[in-house]
Amino acid sequence: MAGGYGIDMGTRNLKIFNKGSGEVVHEKNTIAIVGGNQMYAYGDEAFSMFEKAPETIDVSFPIVGGVIADFDNMQTMLLEILEKGLSARLKGADIVIAVPTDITEVEKKAFFDMFAKTKIKARSIHLCEKPLADALGMGIDITEPTGIMVVDLGADTTEISVVSLGGLVLSQLLPFGGNRLDDCIVTYLKRKYNLLIGRKTACTLKENIGSALEPTERRAQVIVGRDVVSGLPIEMEITGDIIYEGMKDELANVGQSIRIILEKVPPELAKDIVHSGIYLSGGSSKIAGLAQFFSDMTNIIMNVADDGEETVARGLGQVLCEDKFQRFGYTMRSRIFS
Ligand SMILES: Nc1ncnc2c1ncn2[C@@H]1O[C@H](COP(=O)(O)OP(=O)(O)OP(=O)(O)O)[C@@H](O)[C@H]1O
Ligand SMILES: [Mg+2]
Repeated sequence: MAGGYGIDMGTRNLKIFNKGSGEVVHEKNTIAIVGGNQMYAYGDEAFSMFEKAPETIDVSFPIVGGVIADFDNMQTMLLEILEKGLSARLKGADIVIAVPTDITEVEKKAFFDMFAKTKIKARSIHLCEKPLADALGMGIDITEPTGIMVVDLGADTTEISVVSLGGLVLSQLLPFGGNRLDDCIVTYLKRKYNLLIGRKTACTLKENIGSALEPTERRAQVIVGRDVVSGLPIEMEITGDIIYEGMKDELANVGQSIRIILEKVPPELAKDIVHSGIYLSGGSSKIAGLAQFFSDMTNIIMNVADDGEETVARGLGQVLCEDKFQRFGYTMRSRIFS
């Protein structure tokens, strides 16, 4: 039997819903190139080389700021992961791909072409607006006449959207995400402690001891960095309050953006949002204390997805599997010419 696949090409993580198993497969959305154009490794293996590879290996991310920056390599990796990793039978398969709403039609078409421009004859190729998939993935029935606000906090982007009656009332894609927080931590440790660390270490610190609220208990992690003054590697214990300090301004900016968008929401929909709360998804929604931090800034309750990294892919699964949600997938041709 031909398969069905829901694909969320994130800046950092590629998530694929497999209709056959009902599971979501994760792989780092990373490629390692040698000799200018030859793929040396991809996925988790390529990510393990990030910030460690010699100059001859170029490790990069084919999705930047939510859009496709390296079409050919993204396509090669995606087909390899599907055909080899998932043993997918793409001939005759149904494909649904998530796309950010606040990008151009040309940028959306590139996601569509990822499958349309291959020799593989899929049975159907559909796009689905990411905020709709996000909401479906969190178990929300978006066909109701109720205003819903979804904030997807990813690695390179944050998408703030309002959905009602199965359509998007507004959506804004911000250039903020977990990567920016990692950079803030790197910069803060260098400025305050003359300690140089890599972005991967910063990411680990953020995930393990970071928080959006001032920590009330002591949490710490020992890391190895380079002392900027002596130039030598040193071991240092980093506490949660240091990471909090490094991230707090950036998180306040996102909270401020949510407030600005709330001001644009029509009053009847705003009433619904206040009533049901704002839905947070994406991997960065897992930052400790983030829901409380945004609640304090907006006076609105936050509902955090159980596994924020997977919600979009799970929502695509709903589009693939549930008849009543099928209409949320659209083909690029019908959109341009109808
Ligand atoms: N426990 C955690 N605490 C804090 N951040 C986390 C945690 N788990 C994952 N993250 C962050 O979530 C981000 C990845 O999330 P996600 O997979 O939703 O992004 P993406 O879909 O690849 O990116 P985008 O949607 O911006 O294209 C990374 O920045 C990662 O550090
Ligand atoms: Mg994402």
